[in-house]
Amino acid sequence: MNAGELENKLLSIISDISEGRYSDDIMELTRNDVPDPVRTIAEAVALMMVKVEAREFQLQQLVDQLKELNKRIKENTIAVVTAMAQALAARDAYTEGHASRVAEFSYAIARELGFEGEALEYVRLGGALHDIGKIGFPDILFSSHEQRLPSNLVKEINRHPAIGVKILEPLDFLGPAIDYVSAHHERLDGRGYPRGLKGDQIPLGAQIVSVADIYDAITSERPYQETKTSDEALAILYDISNTRVRIEIVQALERVLANKDAS
Ligand SMILES: [Fe+2]
Repeated sequence: MNAGELENKLLSIISDISEGRYSDDIMELTRNDVPDPVRTIAEAVALMMVKVEAREFQLQQLVDQLKELNKRIKENTIAVVTAMAQALAARDAYTEGHASRVAEFSYAIARELGFEGEALEYVRLGGALHDIGKIGFPDILFSSHEQRLPSNLVKEINRHPAIGVKILEPLDFLGPAIDYVSAHHERLDGRGYPRGLKGDQIPLGAQIVSVADIYDAITSERPYQETKTSDEALAILYDISNTRVRIEIVQALERVLANKDAS
């Protein structure tokens, strides 16, 4: 190669490097038989390239570490909030385990309805956290969803979905799970709370949590009601389907329970 060709080659290699395409071509221009100044510049560029590559490698490692750290923070925060929800349910002997059962039923129903991956996890989280908004309530408010409370207290308890949203809102990685907490007392006919959403305005995940919540409340031992069997609970859910909850969710729950019995 003559001097002009060498310079052109050097320029093209430098241009490649500047665009992040590293290759060993530069080494050819650092050979002893390559005349100056091309050789000297090539040596400097080769050295620079090695340093830049090393730094990029370090940066990539840092990015990977950050991603891993971020994932762990997310997992830990979910674990903490879920533990909070469990502790909340444990304040009342009759609702102990309610949050985790609702989480598992919600998950199973959602899977039955074809939810997958992250979408499935959001439903589980919505189930685990649905009543987190009751955390600041006195025990009397905590212990019931039911009609035995005077109306001023009912009004108070009806605020728990909105309070839940306020608590969880800063955790943006909870994604749609926050909407499920918000809407788990909405009803298909628009007579639910807090927003009176109707039909398809209610996220499917929220309706799933709602069905799981109602089913667990009916089948668990509570001081103000006789514990119902699984079949009785399903009958009640079918009764309120199309006014409160979507029938296909109740049907999915029925299949989940049948599979559970079979296994
Ligand atoms: Fe609730």
